[in-house]
Amino acid sequence: MTLNSDNKAISIEKLNYGFGTGETAKQVLFDITLSVAPGEFAIMTGPSGSGKTTLLSLVGALRRPQSGSLHAIGHDLCRLESPGLENYRRQLGFIFQLHNLFPALTVFQSVQMATDLHPESGQKMNDRIRELLTQLGLGERMDYRPHQLSGGQRQRVAIARALVHRPTLVLADEPTAALDGENTEIVLKLLADLAHERRTTVLMITQDSRVFESADRLIHLVDGRLDPQEGPAG
Ligand SMILES: Nc1ncnc2c1ncn2[C@@H]1O[C@H](COP(=O)(O)OP(=O)(O)O)[C@@H](O)[C@H]1O
Ligand SMILES: [Mg+2]
Repeated sequence: MTLNSDNKAISIEKLNYGFGTGETAKQVLFDITLSVAPGEFAIMTGPSGSGKTTLLSLVGALRRPQSGSLHAIGHDLCRLESPGLENYRRQLGFIFQLHNLFPALTVFQSVQMATDLHPESGQKMNDRIRELLTQLGLGERMDYRPHQLSGGQRQRVAIARALVHRPTLVLADEPTAALDGENTEIVLKLLADLAHERRTTVLMITQDSRVFESADRLIHLVDGRLDPQEGPAG
């Protein structure tokens, strides 16, 4: 079967990727073939060093595939150049493993900054920021700065920042790693609702087996290869 991007939010075929050249060359992804449907909540898991973050950064167009094909929400990521690249990135909600919040900005301002290029700005957007921060349990912290927040609170600010502009595709790298059980539940429900009620596609990396049951699909990556028992499905 030939996969195309038509009814797939993410369509990956025979993707390979490596770091370095010559003596130091190291291949980390091997022949990955995988697709994710629109509105699907897919969880990618696997041991540390198996290539999960590398694969996510390829889907997020932070790196360019070296061979194979990769399509996401109608864009061919092997060929994408400006301005299509910026257009694609604007439709993404990217939650990084190492989130950086600007020390000088309050919680509200951090999230607001992500909406600067969004046409729907002003009062309506400010209401949305408040609603999202409240959902994430940060309603009382909107005027705090990062140094006044716990690790888990900072992580939730980064999540709000990634979701505030209603992305079509959410890419999340271990978003619940710093969260306690209660906040993990809140974040998972938020992501599942986005997928199932708004047809947002969510691809999330986690090592936390407690959250696997939230997923529509589990993708196992081991040593840069999809676990043959689990994928490629769909
Ligand atoms: N920028 C990089 N340069 C060289 N090697 C890298 C780089 N990023 C990751 N790697 C290597 O690629 C492999 C996969 O890493 P990564 O995608 O971060 O795995 P995971 O997210 O599953 O822990 C690891 O062996 C890691 O050391
Ligand atoms: Mg990683």
